Amino acid sequence: MAPLLTGVLFRPDRYHYFAELDSTNRLAARLAQEGADQGTVVVADCQTGGRGRLGRSWFSPRGVNLYCSVVLRPAIPPQVAAQLTLVAGLALAHAVADLGCGDVELKWPNDLLLGGRKAAGILTEMRTEAARIQHVIVGIGVNVNGARTAFPVALREQAVNLAESLRGPVDRARLLAGLLAWLEHWYDRFDREGFGPLRQEWLSFARLLDQAVQVRLADETFSGRARALDAEGYLLVQRADGTLTRVVAGDVMRLEEG
Ligand code: BTN
Repeated sequence: MAPLLTGVLFRPDRYHYFAELDSTNRLAARLAQEGADQGTVVVADCQTGGRGRLGRSWFSPRGVNLYCSVVLRPAIPPQVAAQLTLVAGLALAHAVADLGCGDVELKWPNDLLLGGRKAAGILTEMRTEAARIQHVIVGIGVNVNGARTAFPVALREQAVNLAESLRGPVDRARLLAGLLAWLEHWYDRFDREGFGPLRQEWLSFARLLDQAVQVRLADETFSGRARALDAEGYLLVQRADGTLTRVVAGDVMRLEEG
């Protein structure tokens, strides 16, 4: 893998590979706390405790998928750190499109879909001190070469592997190299110019705007229409009574319209 890392941010001396970890996010957070540089990358061939968003677990079998976490130290306030999930999504969408996958969709805030099914997810976790970001860990899991039948039954209908979409196996090292190159590109732009220029790019992969959606928050579920991605990267959903709700953390599902 090392020769494929040709960037300034992501480079061979910051790359850590493991045959097995509980969670790449967890190890990356530990390394970051011990002072690891921005640009540190942790990859595992399998995870025994892969973590998903909202306390879920992430299906992480050996030898077929990509599980990767990067350490970032952005100079931004904690309240906009969620934008990094969108930055990573944008990089992921480009990397997957480069492999030849058509129909790449980004679903707010952290999913990459192919043909409407989830092929990848992003988990962004941060540590702050005195209202300042110490580090952000961006963890990316991609379903790459597994067999459809290997997914747990509960996921089988909603999940997809890149190899299914491409009708052939995918070189995981090439995917990772492409992902990190795109992430370096977009993160550098984000660092210099903020989220503004990336917002439109992200929306070019999204299909949610003006669609009827159901939003599940921790304490409430409601329906409405997705209207905009605001300047901070949050989704604005208009309810039937016309009011706009800013969705900061939750699940958003597109509703079929008759
Ligand atoms: C989600 O869609 O819920 C986010 C899934 C994120 C999974 C990745 S796999 C690599 C990294 N390590 C983890 O434990 N989780 C993320």
